[in-house]
Amino acid sequence: MSPIAIQRKHSIATLGADGIGPEVVNAAVQVLKKLTSLDGLFELDFKDYDWSSETYKKTGKYIPDGGLEELKKHDAILFGAVGAPDVPDHISLWGLRLAICQPFQQFANVRPTRIFRGTQSPLRNASHGDLDWVIVRENSEGEYAGQGGRSHRGQPWEIATEVSIFTRHAVERLIRFAFELAQKRPRKFLTVVTKSNAQRNGMVMWDEIALEVSKDFPDVKWDKMLVDAMTCRMVLDPKSLDTIVATNLHADILSDLAAALAGSIGIAPTSNLDPTRQNPSMFEPIHGSAFDITGKGVANPVATFWTAAEMLTWLGEEDAANKMMKAVENVTERGLVTKDLGGSSNTKEVTDAVCAELEHVFGKEK
Ligand SMILES: NC(=O)c1ccc[n+]([C@@H]2O[C@H](COP(=O)([O-])OP(=O)(O)OC[C@H]3O[C@@H](n4cnc5c(N)ncnc54)[C@H](O)[C@@H]3O)[C@@H](O)[C@H]2O)c1
Repeated sequence: MSPIAIQRKHSIATLGADGIGPEVVNAAVQVLKKLTSLDGLFELDFKDYDWSSETYKKTGKYIPDGGLEELKKHDAILFGAVGAPDVPDHISLWGLRLAICQPFQQFANVRPTRIFRGTQSPLRNASHGDLDWVIVRENSEGEYAGQGGRSHRGQPWEIATEVSIFTRHAVERLIRFAFELAQKRPRKFLTVVTKSNAQRNGMVMWDEIALEVSKDFPDVKWDKMLVDAMTCRMVLDPKSLDTIVATNLHADILSDLAAALAGSIGIAPTSNLDPTRQNPSMFEPIHGSAFDITGKGVANPVATFWTAAEMLTWLGEEDAANKMMKAVENVTERGLVTKDLGGSSNTKEVTDAVCAELEHVFGKEK
């Protein structure tokens, strides 16, 4: 019998960047190559870009001239993390990650969280199945719009402003995206996070737009929470939540809390999506470059595996993505996990175990 021909090809830009970023991206590429060789129906064509804080220190730029046009040729971007101990964080973040997300209009940042089989939540009453959320973060403006400035530097009367920007256009498209996502999930339930008691302009408009958009989704139940009270609800009543939408800053913080409640920041993925598909979307683990464990080979690669699975789903390869996550959870269930999840395995052992498990998953299901 002749082998089945490859039916689909996707071009992936990989940017490991700094710290543990290259370690976890390389691990994910190893798993993705194994997956495509077993699946046989689609191909991933990887091109690596060495843009990082090292490049910045050598050339003064994170992204070389023409770099974004080059990146735009790909179907998706798999990103590690940016940040180095000897470069100020606001330079590295704005120099690479935000310099891709903002021009590519990746306005929806999607952050799923759940407790994997075989892992433990720090919440004593929550186990696998009890915490299953997707946080949707506004990713183009809000508190991270980059508006503001500093005057009278170094004087006692120095002034700095950091202005939050909320536009009807960006809030409406994001809240609509969140309702659509909630509608696709079994519980059809959305929580809109706000702070309209204290922030009486942008956040009040945010609430008004949520109410307006909700009218187009009569089958989606929704409620509203002040961000401070939301932290308590996430800890004390995790089962009461499903899909969550929040501003750039609020969701940034809440999603780290979500990751910790699910067991570790080392398992949490992010998708930076341009839902119009005019630009490639970018997929990355939530975590940063983790200076304390860089080069030790102990970083948890699971966040990047889950990130890669989200990327496959976005590219239309949902069946392969589901198989990949099944293999990952079979491995965690056996207790083969890194130290942040209470285990003693290193990055390579977890990666090799997931590759081996994929053979079982495909063997069983083919
Ligand atoms: N998207 C990004 O590129 C991004 C996100 C967050 C932070 N950063 C940058 O990363 C640098 C360090 O930031 P930070 O220390 O606040 O956050 P961090 O996520 O890098 O680390 C926080 C803690 O979590 C641990 N951790 C993170 N990822 C892990 C993994 N995969 N496995 C096991 N443990 C893991 C680290 O060892 C550390 O103890 C800074 O320069 C920051 O600006 C970048």
